[in-house]
Amino acid sequence: MRIKIISAGRAMARTLGIAALLATPVRGQIPNEFFNLKVLPEEIAKRDLVNTMKSFTRALGVRCEFCHVGEGDLANFDFPSDKKVRKVKARVMLQMVAAINGEYLSRIKDDEHHMPEVSCITCHRGKQMPEF
Ligand code: HEC
Ligand code: HEC
Repeated sequence: MRIKIISAGRAMARTLGIAALLATPVRGQIPNEFFNLKVLPEEIAKRDLVNTMKSFTRALGVRCEFCHVGEGDLANFDFPSDKKVRKVKARVMLQMVAAINGEYLSRIKDDEHHMPEVSCITCHRGKQMPEF
């Protein structure tokens, strides 16, 4: 389960592309150790975690504080806190995406559908709530 999720995270980071250019300055203000990962692998590289987080902000059109407690300088954020319900919901979303990709789309892989995969942006399309 965890392995599938890290690859989902990497795929999300890859789709992001542009984040790699912006990642370095932000990364300096983000802790090097993580204390409350329940879905992402505990041993995830900081780079992969940051890219995954940036993919969330882009997919939902929000900033870090949408899910995390804090404002202004990222160095003062309480990232491990689960106080914001959106963070808790985002965890469920991560599990949902991993299930869609790992348990379902993987079963329709064929010559025409090499790597069918959904990510946050597939539904959210830059919006906090998907619009139907
Ligand atoms: C849509 C919600 C959402 C947004 C936006 C978001 N995060 Fe997260 N973040 C999460 C979730 C969910 C987790 C916990 C993942 C888990 O449990 O495996 C997390 C975990 C983290 C952690 C690890 C905390 C710990 O010690 O366990 C850091 C650091 C972090 N995020 C940084 C950021 C940064 C920096 C941004 C902005 C670029 C950001 N996040 C934007 C949802 C979000
Ligand atoms: C299959 C479509 C789909 C995908 C993929 C998806 N979401 Fe969602 N998400 C939804 C729907 C639908 C809702 C709204 C549920 C509701 O009405 O409260 C939602 C709600 C949310 C919310 C709560 C927003 C709020 O304002 O309370 C967060 C946070 C969120 N999604 C994060 C994510 C993240 C992060 C990802 C990628 C890991 C993701 N979603 C992928 C469909 C999706």
